Amino acid sequence: MAAPHSDQAEDWWRSAAIYQVYVRSFADGDGDGTGDLAGVRARLRHLAELGIDAIWFNPWYLSPMADGGYDVADYRAIDPAFGTLAEAEKLISEARELGIRTIVDIVPNHVSDRHAWFRSALAAGPGSPERELFHFRPGRGGHGELPPNNWPSQFAGETWTRVCDGEWYLHLFTPEQPDLNWDHPVVRQEHEDVLRFWFERGAAGVRIDSAALCAKDPELPDADEDDTTPYVDRDELHDIYRAWRAVADEYGGVLIGELWVPDPDRFSRYLRSDELHTAFNFDFLARPWNAAELHASIDTTLAYHAPVGAPATWVLCNHDVTRTVTRYGRDEDTGFDFAKKRFGTPSDLAVGTRRARAAALLSLALPGSVYLFQGEELGLPEADIPLDRIQDPMHFRSQGVDPGRDGCRVPLPWAADAPYCGFGSDTEPWLPQPGDWASYAADCQAADPTSMLTLYRQALRIRRSEPGFGDGPLRWLPSAQGVLAFTRTDGLICVVNVAGEPAGLPGHASVLLTSGPLDDQGRLPRDTAAWLRA
Ligand code: GLC
Repeated sequence: MAAPHSDQAEDWWRSAAIYQVYVRSFADGDGDGTGDLAGVRARLRHLAELGIDAIWFNPWYLSPMADGGYDVADYRAIDPAFGTLAEAEKLISEARELGIRTIVDIVPNHVSDRHAWFRSALAAGPGSPERELFHFRPGRGGHGELPPNNWPSQFAGETWTRVCDGEWYLHLFTPEQPDLNWDHPVVRQEHEDVLRFWFERGAAGVRIDSAALCAKDPELPDADEDDTTPYVDRDELHDIYRAWRAVADEYGGVLIGELWVPDPDRFSRYLRSDELHTAFNFDFLARPWNAAELHASIDTTLAYHAPVGAPATWVLCNHDVTRTVTRYGRDEDTGFDFAKKRFGTPSDLAVGTRRARAAALLSLALPGSVYLFQGEELGLPEADIPLDRIQDPMHFRSQGVDPGRDGCRVPLPWAADAPYCGFGSDTEPWLPQPGDWASYAADCQAADPTSMLTLYRQALRIRRSEPGFGDGPLRWLPSAQGVLAFTRTDGLICVVNVAGEPAGLPGHASVLLTSGPLDDQGRLPRDTAAWLRA
C-alpha cells in the first residue's frame, strides 16, 4: 500500500479522501440484519485497500431512529443495535493503525424527543427552566390552537407540535427532533463537552449536521420563502463555531460543516481561520453533467475558498441524495435537490456509470479533499424501495410524494454468492436489496480490472502517491467545446470529455489512468476522463 498523503501531518484534512460509512447499511457483524460496528471492524481491510484517509461515521449514538440516528438520545452512548462504546473506541484505534482517521457526526440543531433533556422539559411544564433548553411557545389564535409561526419544515409537514399542556415546541425536522435553544449557555456547554468526549476517544474530526440552522431569531418571527434569516445562516452561528474551534484546536481536531448556504460569500465566512476547517461543497454535487456548469462550479468554489485559505471539498453523493450513477444517467439538464429524488424518473445506468467513472477521476483530481459515500466505489445505483418497506420519515411527511432517502441507504453487497450478498448472515437486511445487487458485489469487482472498485483503488493509489494532487493550485488548459482540461503541479493533467466529440489528448509523457477505453485513434470519448503526466 502506498503511504497515505501525509499521515502524520496536521494538515491531512486539506487533501484527504474521506469515506462515509452509514453504519446501519455497511456490514452486519452480528447477523441481525442491521449493520454495526463489528461489521465495520471486519471490513476495515476493504477500506484500507481502497486507500482512504478517514472515515466519517453517520450518527452511531443511542437513538430511537426516527430519522436514521439524526435523532440522538445520548451522545455518550452507542446505540445497542450498533455495539458499545468500548467497541467504538476499538474501532477508532484499529482504523488508526491502518492509517485511517475517524470523523464523528454531531447534530447540534436538535436532539431526540427521548433525550433526557426533552423528557424533563415535557414533565416540568410551561415556564420551567427545563423548557428553556428548547423552543416552547404558546400558540396563536383565540385558544392557542395555531402554531406560533409559519416556518416551513426542512422535511415536508409542520414545524410545531402541541403538547398536552397546550404549549408548542419547534422542530425544523420531525416532531421526534425538537430544536435546541442555542441562546442557552447550557446547550453550548454541553456540545463543547460532547466534542471533548469524542476527541478524547480518538476522533480526528467532527462533521456538523445542519450547521447553518442552530441559531434562531429569539423572537421566532414569521419568515417568508425568500427570507429565511430568522432560522438559516444567522450571524450568531459564527461565535458558536469559534468556540468549537477553540475546543478542536486543543486536540488537533477538524471541524467539517454540513452547510446548505447557497451564497458563496456567506458560505466562505464559516471557513475563516478561527471557525470551521472545511464544509461540504453541495454546489458541485448539484450540477448536471455539463461542461460549462462543472467548470463554473469549480471556478466559483476555488474563488471563494481562496480568500479564507480553506481547501475546497468535492462531494458526489451522500446518504441524503440520489446516488451518482442514477443521477448522471438521467436525461435532464437541470440541477438537483432533495425533491429530485422522486418516483419514476428514468435513468440510463450505462450512461450514468460511464459519467460517474469520469466524475470520480475529475473530483479526485481537483484541489482539496474529497468525499466518497459507501457503495460509490461499487458504482451502486439508487434502489427502488417497495412502498411497504420505506422507512425514511421524508417519505411519510411528504404524504408519499417523495420516495425518501432509503434508495441510497440499501445494505452493501459484499459477496455475490452469499445470502443477501454477504451483508450479514441469512437474516434479511433492514432494507431490501434489489434483485441485481449481486452483480455489484465487492468480491467480484475486486477481481475485475474494469470494475468501478478497481478504478477507485487505482485512482486513490495514484492520488496518494502524487503530492501534486490534493490541496494546491489548478490551472485550466485550453480545450475543445464540452471538454474540461487542467493541470496540477508536478505535471499532472486531468482531461474530462463531458459532452464533446472524441478529443485528442493534450501533450503528455504517459497516461496514468483513464475511466474508460480511448478510441482506436487514441482519442478521449465522451463521458470519459484521463489522468496524464506531462
Ligand atoms: C442532515 C442529515 C440528514 C438529516 C438531517 C436532520 O441534513 O444529513 O440525514 O435527516 O440533517 O438531522
